[in-house]
Amino acid sequence: MNATPDRTNRPTRLPAAALGTPLTPSAVRVMLLGAGELGKEVVIALQRLGVETIAVDRYANAPGMQTAHRAHVVTMTDGPALRALIEKERPRLVVPEIEAIATEILQEIEDEGISEVIPTARATRLTMNRESIRRLASEELGLPTSPYAFAASLEEVRAAIDGGIGYPCLVKPTMSSSGKGQSVLRGPEDIARAWDYAIEGGRVNKNRVIVEGFVDFDYEITLLTVRALGASGEVETFFCEPVGHVQINGDYVESWQPQKMSEAALAKARSIARAITGNLGGRGIFGVELFVKGDRVWFSEVSPRPHDTGLVTLASQRLSEFELHARAILGLPVDVSLRVPGASAVIYGGVAAKGIVFEGVAEALAVPGTDLRLFGKPESFVKRRMGVVVSTGANVEEARELAKRAARRITPKAG
Ligand SMILES: Nc1ncnc2c1ncn2[C@@H]1O[C@H](COP(=O)(O)OP(=O)(O)O)[C@@H](O)[C@H]1O
Ligand SMILES: [Mg+2]
Repeated sequence: MNATPDRTNRPTRLPAAALGTPLTPSAVRVMLLGAGELGKEVVIALQRLGVETIAVDRYANAPGMQTAHRAHVVTMTDGPALRALIEKERPRLVVPEIEAIATEILQEIEDEGISEVIPTARATRLTMNRESIRRLASEELGLPTSPYAFAASLEEVRAAIDGGIGYPCLVKPTMSSSGKGQSVLRGPEDIARAWDYAIEGGRVNKNRVIVEGFVDFDYEITLLTVRALGASGEVETFFCEPVGHVQINGDYVESWQPQKMSEAALAKARSIARAITGNLGGRGIFGVELFVKGDRVWFSEVSPRPHDTGLVTLASQRLSEFELHARAILGLPVDVSLRVPGASAVIYGGVAAKGIVFEGVAEALAVPGTDLRLFGKPESFVKRRMGVVVSTGANVEEARELAKRAARRITPKAG
């Protein structure tokens, strides 16, 4: 079994699982690359264990920067700038929270033993590109996926669809997240619009898209999968209860846990998640996205980090996905048990303004079983996720209803 090779930088020679005191020479320093709402919760979880935290993002006062010991504004796709920052801070762990990072620098940092990259530099590189992760999952590991092809021009998109993928299908930039640049095609008349939209929405590698056959699933889940040191002293795989969710335009609006599944589907989901996360390696939490129809399960994609739909675990699990990530990356034991059924409902900005105000918070929190996270993002956009309600209930249906009721009572307004 593959315990992670120990290349970490330990100036004070602490034993693997010993923790230190922040802002002193014994500190265990962790650098978050990306400091949005997910990074903020990881920072808080690490702070509770006395870890020294350094938050990095491309803009000032990002949510995680407001809770970390130190913050740096850096363009993380700028390799030399990123490398200079890591060399200056010398964190024991580098923890990516987003995909858009100069991953070749992370590989150097790992190879040279400067810091340990979570979960591995290779995992961050493979998962930031739909082409590499899809080829790994389908062609190397033989996992079931939607039919797919890659295309670099409008003509190639048309050829891929006519060559077997058919309609309906999806076109997505190979490098994008949160549904950006992604659209569903119902017939040949949709090709040109989908191509233009993908080219606009892609991050880099602008002219390359994936064409995917549409999977007519009953429901989709995120299987939060944790690779952490187990009782054996080796890295073992732990599965949270499945998280169900609803996506609108490729962005999550609502999630809940547990999603009810047949035993056969759950067993397949776990086996897919074990295969893909086992190949990516390292320690930490992964969000494995799967489509389910009856007892059939398809692999969709995987994030080697906490997943936005997993915000529900702040209410539903004994340890949230953020606490699980913190423990796993520090080499500590994890407990993935569900505490109670829960749900989450996203609060969008609804307005484009800086320094917005949230009205109706008291009314929202008067809804029983609910709690709120306002992320503190300095600038709101209509479709920007600014907060989330998490809730518990006697069952998932009740928790969903309570979360949505509370979220509806909150009105973001220009300040
Ligand atoms: N092949 C597909 N068939 C059906 N629905 C899909 C397919 N691919 C994506 N979707 C829908 O779009 C959402 C976002 O797609 P995804 O590939 O996860 O993009 P992102 O990386 O932006 O999250 C999915 O959660 C699912 O609801
Ligand atoms: Mg996704």
